[in-house]
Amino acid sequence: MYRDKTCGELRLSDKGESVKLAGWVQRSRKMGGMTFIDLRDRYGITQIVFDQENNPDLCSEANGLGREYVVQVTGKVIERASKNKNLPTGEIEIMADGIRILNRSEIPPFTIEDNTDGGDDLRMKYRYLDLRRPCVRKNLELRHRMAFEIRRYLDSKGFLEIETPILVKSTPEGARDFVVPSRMNPGEFYALPQSPQLFKQLLMVSGYDRYFQIAKCFRDEDLRADRQPEFTQIDCEMSFVEQEDVIDMFEGLVKHIFKYVKGIDFTEPFMRMTWADAMKFYGSDKPDLRFGMPFVELTDLVKGKGFSVMDDAELTVGITAKGCAAYTRKQIDQLTDFVKRPQIGAKGLVWVKIESDGAVKSSVGKFFSEEDLRGWAERMQAEPGDLMLIMSGAAMKTRKQLCELRLEMGNRLGLRDKNVFAPLWVVDFPLFEWDDETQRYYAMHHPFTSPNPEDIPLLHSDTGKVRATAYDIIVNGTELGGGSIRIHDAELQDTMFELLGFTQERAQEQFGFLMDAFKYGAPPHGGLALGFDRFVSILAGLDTIRDVIAFPKNNSGRDVMNESPSALDPAQLDELNLRIELKD
Ligand code: AMO
Repeated sequence: MYRDKTCGELRLSDKGESVKLAGWVQRSRKMGGMTFIDLRDRYGITQIVFDQENNPDLCSEANGLGREYVVQVTGKVIERASKNKNLPTGEIEIMADGIRILNRSEIPPFTIEDNTDGGDDLRMKYRYLDLRRPCVRKNLELRHRMAFEIRRYLDSKGFLEIETPILVKSTPEGARDFVVPSRMNPGEFYALPQSPQLFKQLLMVSGYDRYFQIAKCFRDEDLRADRQPEFTQIDCEMSFVEQEDVIDMFEGLVKHIFKYVKGIDFTEPFMRMTWADAMKFYGSDKPDLRFGMPFVELTDLVKGKGFSVMDDAELTVGITAKGCAAYTRKQIDQLTDFVKRPQIGAKGLVWVKIESDGAVKSSVGKFFSEEDLRGWAERMQAEPGDLMLIMSGAAMKTRKQLCELRLEMGNRLGLRDKNVFAPLWVVDFPLFEWDDETQRYYAMHHPFTSPNPEDIPLLHSDTGKVRATAYDIIVNGTELGGGSIRIHDAELQDTMFELLGFTQERAQEQFGFLMDAFKYGAPPHGGLALGFDRFVSILAGLDTIRDVIAFPKNNSGRDVMNESPSALDPAQLDELNLRIELKD
């Protein structure tokens, strides 16, 4: 037996017991005639003490232990003279009477502690060492607990967890596919699933009624803090449901997990906001509602005063930053630089201050009278001490730019507290999105999303106005999940494909199996998928989902530890009947 106790479990009540522990040497230090070792395993840290006077040989052996050596220690639990209140085992230590080195370690490239000296790249290269750090382990433990509880909850609601294939058919729409060549079918490829969408719909046709899966999904898209090329969804589908049924079920799940993990009780229903309002008041379909600062439109007030920027703009819109009239020139310049960054791309920023004594100052005093500016302030509910920040331009673009500025102000004012959670449902998304470049409509969610029944008459006449029966759940400005009620009627699905520019043949070729299935009694159905990595990282208060994934990829989609992706061996290519010829 390597051990009879873990490094996290001994307490003062175990005093006098002889124990055997195994773990890693976190650090060792010599003090007077004593050597102390912090022994670490998954469960915690226990201090081991070696006494030079009583056991010189053992002590000198302990002095030879390096960081991250794997050792087994036997000894007696004794009460510590100087107790460590920060450690659950901090009232005791083990007076060692034996030690065995189970494995040696090279000096690790960074310290294996929460406050490590290792940079991001180094930690990712040695991720297996990074994973030893308690703060990283804590995230994976939370992930496990959440997955377990989600399964338990959905099981209690009658959901069946059913696995769906990983090698699937490549279908258009959505993000780019990762593809896998088929050896047995030369020249043909599978795709890795972007989500199990079509399979879960087929399972509804098969009568399974309530499906879920904690499913790996793969998307070849540009990466960000909340996007990985492979990620995990809590993927769900239900039969004989309407939007309210789905929202009700998964609001229940999200509330349950908040209570389970954070002890937070959301007693009221989550807020609902239409997509149109979310865009109008926050410039985003995923508004961060931990703070207010809604957009106020000024277009009608600002035109005709000779300020061409506003005269020519489709939209002039602003936010009021409470208590920020004291901002210095430098601080305002920083905000202007912020919105002018290429990622945001604004041309400039107009500001108006209502000083604490009521005086009005602005960057556009040349064009607007004090009375004009007071009119703006009234509409924007700006009071003495407040700063108004205003942008003009094409409507959608300007809203998105002001959205970035609003979030930046939220950060600067400390309004985006990680311990505050503001969930909401965004509903009534448009069914289609127009793309100028390709001059066609795309499905905003996916091509199987049902139009809002009220808008079906508009499908041909006013396509862009048709609302979808689709919903997203947002927490703190992050899209936690999204779903829709699906089309279950083959004829309506045909219309949808037609509007998306698919010919009959192409629709049949890509989605024929689904269309065929719909001919055999498809029940009304709908569902949603929650981003599991995002869910865990929000609850853990982290900035990136990489911290809740054991072996994540970097922002170029690389695993720097195993150096993938990598070139294939020529013999492997041969077997696959492939020759690589890279385009310039
Ligand atoms: P959607 O594409 O909105 O819907 O994805 C659902 C949720 O998955 C998460 N997510 C991601 N997380 C990490 N990295 C990514 N690259 C990534 N992409 C998406 C988000 C998102 O809200 N089949 C539909 C669901 C349905 O209609 O039932 C779907 O996949 O949290």
